[in-house]
Amino acid sequence: MNKSEFGVIGLGVMGKSISLNIAEKGFSISVYNRISDGEESIVSDFLSDNNFFKNITGFANLESFVASVERPRKILIMIKSGLAVDSIIEQLIPNLSEGDIIIDGGNSHFNDTQKRTNYLKNKNIHFVGCGISGGEEGARKGPSIMPGGTVEAYKEIAPILEKIAAKDSQGKPCCSHIGNDGAGHFIKMVHNGIEYAEMQLIAEVYSLLHTSLSNKEIAKIFENWNLGNESSYLLEITAKILRKQEGKNDLIDIILDKAGNKGTGSWSSKTALELGFPNTMMTSSVFDRYISSFKERRVELAQKINRKNTNESVNIEQLKKGYQFARIINHQQGFGLIKEASNFYNWDLNLSEIARIWTNGCIIRSKFMEDSISILKENEDYFEDQNNFNYLNSSEASIIKVLQFGLQNRISLNTLSASYNYWVGMTTKKLPANIIQAQRDFFGAHTYQRIDTDNSSFFHTKWQEL
Ligand code: 6PG
Repeated sequence: MNKSEFGVIGLGVMGKSISLNIAEKGFSISVYNRISDGEESIVSDFLSDNNFFKNITGFANLESFVASVERPRKILIMIKSGLAVDSIIEQLIPNLSEGDIIIDGGNSHFNDTQKRTNYLKNKNIHFVGCGISGGEEGARKGPSIMPGGTVEAYKEIAPILEKIAAKDSQGKPCCSHIGNDGAGHFIKMVHNGIEYAEMQLIAEVYSLLHTSLSNKEIAKIFENWNLGNESSYLLEITAKILRKQEGKNDLIDIILDKAGNKGTGSWSSKTALELGFPNTMMTSSVFDRYISSFKERRVELAQKINRKNTNESVNIEQLKKGYQFARIINHQQGFGLIKEASNFYNWDLNLSEIARIWTNGCIIRSKFMEDSISILKENEDYFEDQNNFNYLNSSEASIIKVLQFGLQNRISLNTLSASYNYWVGMTTKKLPANIIQAQRDFFGAHTYQRIDTDNSSFFHTKWQEL
């Protein structure tokens, strides 16, 4: 039997779609899914549903699956992150040979990827933690792919990954070797952190517009914005969402206002906290999802205070400027975190190249991401880019008006506010952190620095007699 060029483990939604993408690009591929209760026919159903592809071979036995892939084996695992990944790695190890490559295409935590990389390195097996973005459609038609691991392993898998990836505006694949060990999964995690804040911003903008406009009218505004600098995939799908009918109703009005999450947003936020980097927007958007989940309590309390809904209208031009202002800050914070982690983990990450592979296939693709390729090539900091800085500076008045409208009308705008407060904090010469330092020194003798001496000296004051 001819050996396959590639193997995929896990025929869930993403695994199926990526397998079909690989097969469509002409590579021979073996697929495997375990047999457990209710999953007996997954492999055979997949093969019969797609029997026009003659280059797919299916297996329900792991040993035969591994044996069917040519060496060095390139095996992509597309299963739920966590313990299941460790378990499949353990099952694979006795069947693999030195130099084989395991690619984890799920949303695994980058610290787990670092551990797995070292563990497998001792067995001379390459491990590639690979971020994949774009959902089901992206996986099928061209995702954005963020592989970490050794350059050596990347060279082996590049011809396939680059072929199945989305293409940027120059026709180059949205796939690039990110950096060592956990770098690929780290980048995907931050992608999701940025995604959370971009989604929350659109939701807040919607809530501001919805005081006086219908869903269709808001869809029209989003479609309009999508023709200019504000355009993005998320804005585009939100306009479509707002136009979706179910019978006579707008479907959006029937969807319960409780947001779920699978954890990557909170991982990003935790990592930012650990690295000491102020990612206030992604963190606030995670908390916004958590607040939304208290639906029953919210309803109860809303009844107690019994406020009327406003029907005042927000100024749409100011809102558009405020929205873009917040998006720039979101990218500043997201890429700032990447830069911070790059130094901390010695990954030597290329911010401009990361922006490039995020211009197509992934969820946060946008016109601004396109612009970010050159911005980050020059400066690696949006505040150093004169055009952006001027935009932020000149649109400050607009976001203030938008926030005032929100405050006056009881519209919760945590993430928009977070962007404004970050900007104000970062552009304020003197912050009240001297108070914090004095308090710390007062109760805990934690010491403080002084403005009338050099920065390297620390002082303690005896604030009161004990
Ligand atoms: C993507 C998405 C994808 C996903 C996550 C986040 O890039 O394709 O980010 O990975 O939607 O599962 O989902 P939650 O909102 O459930 O955390």
